[in-house]
Amino acid sequence: KEMHNFLKELPKCEHHVHLEGTLEPDLLFPLAKRNKIELPADFPKTPEELHIRYDNFENLDDFLHFYYIGMGVLITEQDFFDLAWSYFVKAKNDGVWHAETFFDPQGHTERGIKMETVVNGFNRAAEKAQAELGISTKLIMCLLKHLPVPNGMETLKAATGFYKQGLIHGLGLDSSELPFPPKLFTECYSYAAENFGEDVGLTAHAGEEGGPEYITQTLDLLKATRIDHGVNSYKDDAVMERLARENVMLTLCPLSNVKLQVVEDVAELPVMKWLEVGVPFSINSDDPAYFGGYILDNYVVMHTRFGFDLNTWGKIAKFGVDGSWISSERKKKIH
Ligand code: HPA
Ligand code: ZN
Repeated sequence: KEMHNFLKELPKCEHHVHLEGTLEPDLLFPLAKRNKIELPADFPKTPEELHIRYDNFENLDDFLHFYYIGMGVLITEQDFFDLAWSYFVKAKNDGVWHAETFFDPQGHTERGIKMETVVNGFNRAAEKAQAELGISTKLIMCLLKHLPVPNGMETLKAATGFYKQGLIHGLGLDSSELPFPPKLFTECYSYAAENFGEDVGLTAHAGEEGGPEYITQTLDLLKATRIDHGVNSYKDDAVMERLARENVMLTLCPLSNVKLQVVEDVAELPVMKWLEVGVPFSINSDDPAYFGGYILDNYVVMHTRFGFDLNTWGKIAKFGVDGSWISSERKKKIH
């Protein structure tokens, strides 16, 4: 109980949460009804049934199937606003000071939704979160690895205006990992680096189901400065040492890793090895509506498995602040 309060009060920065992954079953069904979206015939019929299905994901792709059906109920700018706002309220309650949130524009433009509908809805929620909750926020667009690279390039070009207006701050890469190595997207990342301004943040999902070579490609070819998940880094000592030396933060999502069967239990994550070698990491929620827990739940499960002392928790909190894409003044405020 005391520890729970301590973890709640600990200033947290979230770097790995997909806004579409915060769509709770309790919101999914009413939105489907309101927007007259017909769910697949074999889709669970109630939030209770859907929660049960969510407890039994076989792997990343099995989850993604539900994730894409779920986001299909989001149609209007208000839907995107409501989704993000309810996330920010939960984040505030969990003790989040700064949130860098992912979204998947192609998951919406493929369904005929305009990118500006998505970006404007999310940004209105982010502005309200800054004004009313005091949370600083950044929006990171992700490209879907299972779609063709030219589609990704087109999406990037369409997003250029939003970067220039400061409405989008970074580029990520998500969706199916195997068999889509990061190197496929080299052209997309160099386009972003050249066209979106010098402080654009570059990150990518790598080493969740893919091996450590996916992490190496992400650093060498995409020039990313962080790695989302990066669990499989432990399989290559040279990769571990490089992450430590180059101060590349892993954005870990412990509950996600269990639900998607990356590990059987959080205790299997090579956390002590990362600490020993000096690989910085943050603790995040990924797709909290699908994986059964928000950021504080992820902190709590890490504590129950690893029993960090206060000193180590201080160090982890500092990794998160230092690895955030924020000004040094904001960092000082959070520290
Ligand atoms: N991995 C890959 N793609 C995703 C994830 C993830 O954890 N969450 C949402 N899209
Ligand atoms: Zn993710």
